[in-house]
Parts: sequence; C-alpha cells; structure tokens
Amino acid sequence: MIRHTPRALCVLLASASIGLSVATAALAADGATVFEACSVCHGKGGASSESAIPIIGGYSAKYIVESIKNFKKKIRTCAEVTIPSGPKKGTKSDMCKVVADLSDADVDAVAKYLADQKFVRARQTFDAAKAQRGVALYKLRCEKCHENNGSSPDEDNGILAGQWTPYLRAQLVSFRTGKRPLDDKMKLRLDKVDKDEEEAILNFFASQQ
Ligand code: HEC
Ligand code: HEC
Repeated sequence: MIRHTPRALCVLLASASIGLSVATAALAADGATVFEACSVCHGKGGASSESAIPIIGGYSAKYIVESIKNFKKKIRTCAEVTIPSGPKKGTKSDMCKVVADLSDADVDAVAKYLADQKFVRARQTFDAAKAQRGVALYKLRCEKCHENNGSSPDEDNGILAGQWTPYLRAQLVSFRTGKRPLDDKMKLRLDKVDKDEEEAILNFFASQQ
C-alpha cells in the first residue's frame, strides 16, 4: 500500500465524484507497477538476460506465488546477485530482501502479470552431442512432471526448456544439498541422475531456443 501512495491519493481524490466502487477497483495492486522493481534484475516482462537470474515471464501464477512464499519464509535460500540495471545497478541484493515487504495483494498481482508474459528462451551455447544424449534421459527421469520437453508451465513446476543453464545448474545443487525444498518424487528421480547425465539433460534444455 505504502509504495502506491501518490497514485492511490490521486485515485481517491478523483473517485470522490465517481463513486466508491471505482476507487476500490483502481486501488487494487497493479502487477505491471509492482514488477517495475523486479525488472532491474529479471528484465523487461521477466525475460532475464542474466544467466544467474531466471527468466520468469510465462511461468504460472501459482508457481510464482509459491516461490515468493518460500523466499519470504526463507525455506528457499536466496542467492546474492549484482543488480544488472536501473538506479541501483552494480550493488548487491537478493530475492529474500526484495520480497520481504511485498503484500499478498502485490504478490498475486505480479504473479498474474508474469503469467500473461511470454517466456523468452535464452540464447546460450550448448553441446549438441550432450543435448542429444539428454533427450532420452529427460524422457526417463523428468518428463512425467516437466512435460513438453520442459516447456510446459501448466504443472506448476517451472519452465526448464530455454531457461538459463547456470541458473538451472545452481537450483539442482540447491535441491541436492537441501537448500531448496523439493517434492519427494522429484528427489527420487534426481538421486538416480549422475553428474554427466545431469549435464546432458541441462544441454537438452539449453538447446531449445
Ligand atoms: C536483486 C535482483 C532481483 C530482484 C530485484 C528480483 N529478483 Fe527475483 N530472483 C533473483 C534471483 C537471483 C533469483 C534466483 C534465486 C535463487 O535461487 O537464489 C530469483 C528468483 C525469482 C523467482 C523464482 C523463479 C524460479 O524459477 O523458481 C521468482 C518467482 C522471482 N524471482 C520473482 C521476482 C519478483 C516478483 C520480483 C519483484 C518483486 C523479483 N523477483 C525481484 C533476483 C532478483
Ligand atoms: C515427480 C515430479 C517431478 C519430477 C519427476 C521432476 N521434477 Fe523437477 N520439479 C518438480 C517440482 C514440483 C518442482 C518445483 C519445486 C518448487 O516448488 O520450488 C520442480 C522444479 C525443478 C527445477 C527448478 C525450476 C526453476 O524454475 O527454478 C529444476 C531445475 C528441475 N525441477 C529439474 C528437474 C530435472 C532435471 C528432472 C529429471 C531428472 C526433474 N526435475 C524431475 C517436480 C518434478
């Protein structure tokens, strides 16, 4: 609420003559406005151009809300990054700090905004032979939940096809070391994947551009 004060005031003043119901609707958090503070790291529309910062435009609203809850509760650890653009460019921050003061209404609004954006796949290098090997491993170990070659946001599991490889690799380390909570069934599958196989799968995701 505090962050919208100037705008909220204008709306309130304007609405005095046009009725309370309009004021209530206009006062609801606006996802695009909330996202302005996020875009300095996640890029326009959530299409991050930084390999350590995930592309989040096009993720499901449910996944975004759940992730932010986990950051707020600190049950998912937050990696510190250097802010790549905007007035605080060059300084360090992390997701736990960023979401600490977001209201539930802001979180819902920004999640809806992001779900409406397009997931823009990362342009990144990959090893074609490893990617080829990764196809069968993906089908065996990951497809059940991460459908359509890892491109489906419907299952609320995150989008893997075209996501930045360094980000995904860091998440797998966090899952394996318990720094990020994980579905027991995914843990079982992940435990069957060795480092070479993991790299093959990651190259398969990176090859989708
Ligand atoms: C300082 C840079 C920075 C800012 C600002 C920032 N983020 Fe992030 N965000 C990150 C990083 C880095 C990660 C990866 C976190 C990790 O695993 O430690 C991340 C992860 C996420 C994730 C989880 C994505 C996934 O695939 O699991 C969501 C959702 C998210 N951010 C939403 C937001 C929203 C909404 C805002 C604005 C309110 C925001 N972020 C602002 C850097 C930032
Ligand atoms: C039984 C279902 C299941 C299977 C099988 C599964 N996953 Fe997942 N995966 C999930 C869920 C659920 C999440 C979301 C975790 C969360 O709540 O943060 C997830 C999240 C991820 C993420 C994080 C995405 C992001 O945006 O941060 C990566 C990376 C990942 N899975 C990789 C894999 C790989 C690689 C395989 C195959 C070896 C695999 N998963 C198999 C259920 C599964």
